[in-house]
Amino acid sequence: MAVATATIKFLQTPTSPAWVEQALAHLDVILLDHAQCERKAAGVAMSFINRYPSDGDLVKALTAIAQEELAHFAQVNQWLERRGVPLGPLPPPPYGAALRQQVRSVEPYRQLDLLLVSALIEARSHERLGLLGQHISDPELAHFYCSLMASEARHYGAYWVLATERFPRPEVEDRLIALATAESSILATLHPLPRIHS
Ligand SMILES: [Fe+2]
Ligand SMILES: [Fe+2]
Repeated sequence: MAVATATIKFLQTPTSPAWVEQALAHLDVILLDHAQCERKAAGVAMSFINRYPSDGDLVKALTAIAQEELAHFAQVNQWLERRGVPLGPLPPPPYGAALRQQVRSVEPYRQLDLLLVSALIEARSHERLGLLGQHISDPELAHFYCSLMASEARHYGAYWVLATERFPRPEVEDRLIALATAESSILATLHPLPRIHS
């Protein structure tokens, strides 16, 4: 199976063809997990607002992202309804928890790490939703995934800008390389459960 080899800026290694095959073979589970990803992305944006309520620029940028992620959540839920897939909990893959372990606990390093981890998750989502858009045979669902890609690209850009506006550029770049290396190694072995971030 042909998979785009272009590496998204930020990501150390591209997604493997095995992930695409796994996802296409379990599309309803992927859609259900994707809904959870959008819900969690809205929650992450809200948690930044809760944690840093006096940072006006950050609150403004993340309010917009939270609203957009919730809109995506509603759109994915419409697809689930259309395909007769009931909403329900789904055990997450280890990806999110493993990335959170990389976040340093002391400020201001904590804020830098949280912004960069969020940027990396958004970048990986952008890449994988794009792969779904490229390979799903249902043209309408494929179009939906392609349409989401632009938003996810804007989101990882927004988290990156927030980081570079608050921390010295060389520090942000060094930390990004370390976190991106960890992110790629978490995904190096395909998780047996089909998930957006398996
Ligand atoms: Fe989204
Ligand atoms: Fe996003």
